[in-house]
Amino acid sequence: MRIAVHGASGFTGSLIVAELVRRDLTPVLVGRDAQRLRRVAERSGAPEAEIRVATLDDIDALAAAFTDCDAVLNAAGPFTLWGEPVVRAALAARRPYLDTTGEPAYLQKILTTYDEPAKQAGIAVIPGVTDDGVPGDLIAALAAARLDAPITEIRLADLRRPGAASRGTARSMAAIVVLDQVEYRDRSWQPVDGHALTIAEPGETEPVPVTALALPGVYTIPRHIDTPNVRGLIRAEVGELFAGLSGEVAESIPEIPDPAELAASRWMMLAEAIAADGSRARGWVTGFDAYTSTAIIAVEAARRLVADGSPAGTLAPAQAFDAASFLDRLALSGVKWQVEELPARN
Ligand SMILES: NC(=O)c1ccc[n+]([C@@H]2O[C@H](COP(=O)([O-])OP(=O)(O)OC[C@H]3O[C@@H](n4cnc5c(N)ncnc54)[C@H](OP(=O)(O)O)[C@@H]3O)[C@@H](O)[C@H]2O)c1
Repeated sequence: MRIAVHGASGFTGSLIVAELVRRDLTPVLVGRDAQRLRRVAERSGAPEAEIRVATLDDIDALAAAFTDCDAVLNAAGPFTLWGEPVVRAALAARRPYLDTTGEPAYLQKILTTYDEPAKQAGIAVIPGVTDDGVPGDLIAALAAARLDAPITEIRLADLRRPGAASRGTARSMAAIVVLDQVEYRDRSWQPVDGHALTIAEPGETEPVPVTALALPGVYTIPRHIDTPNVRGLIRAEVGELFAGLSGEVAESIPEIPDPAELAASRWMMLAEAIAADGSRARGWVTGFDAYTSTAIIAVEAARRLVADGSPAGTLAPAQAFDAASFLDRLALSGVKWQVEELPARN
């Protein structure tokens, strides 16, 4: 299986190349700088890997770089700036497209604008195959499936603590902090209503103060769960950091996070489903090192898409993959997940 990695020279792209090699899949490294791509190939144990240089202003050249590959994984961000030409090139080459975006407005734009073109091209387009995008969407599906009554709300929380972010992530977050935060309310996307919330972290006694952030799930969950409301939440302390993140601050952050800090860092995606009769269920997924996890998730998503096929069009993770089997596969990489029913609230 040949997977084109656009943006292979970046931190996330290089981890994706290494993960493809680890899984005996064939990476094709695509980007704008042959030397940087070659260095990544050599460092990832694939010195013979194919390097293809194509720039974003030449869609034909990008499409030609993708055309004999089974899928395209794009890791070149900020996606708000650089994502769309790569989607268009994948469509022109009729190759499934996945990316590692965490930028909600871009993700929603791809989901809505490219659905019809993807159907016409007969391919799947899945933005946001990351450590928060995929586990958050899948665990929400599994929590909701535990309830019999109609769902009235999904609360999706990213409960990671501050730290261990790359410059690429900081640049992408700086690009989105200026946007108004959005939630799915009464079946449409609207500015958040702003009231403070706390959420109980599994295994902790004190509830955590959280604040609104339009996580990818705010856009992907309504595509497969019949619910009028989806809120995205992050720890309030992380929200404060985002609020102070300017382009200038992002440039001062090291390109690659400290490896020891990264290895020790833990992420957790928690979904609470609330039904009309007061019944509740929650599920969570947790793992270490968000960037290695993203590479593992992105490669598994691309592999499944190619091996198992999928409907054409833009897809949320739970529309493309069986949620439990996908999360079970991640257990090999130390990811744990669980779903439980909670006492009803009347
Ligand atoms: N959970 C999440 O949401 C999550 C997790 C992981 C990553 N991500 C996202 O993935 C993206 C990459 O992060 P990173 O840390 O790997 O960043 P990075 O190290 O800065 O890498 C950025 C990549 O994009 C390429 N690129 C930038 N501008 C380009 C342009 N104008 N034309 C062509 N290529 C261009 C770079 O190519 P050059 O080497 O040629 O400069 C490089 O390959 C970010 O948007 C980040 O937010 C999200």
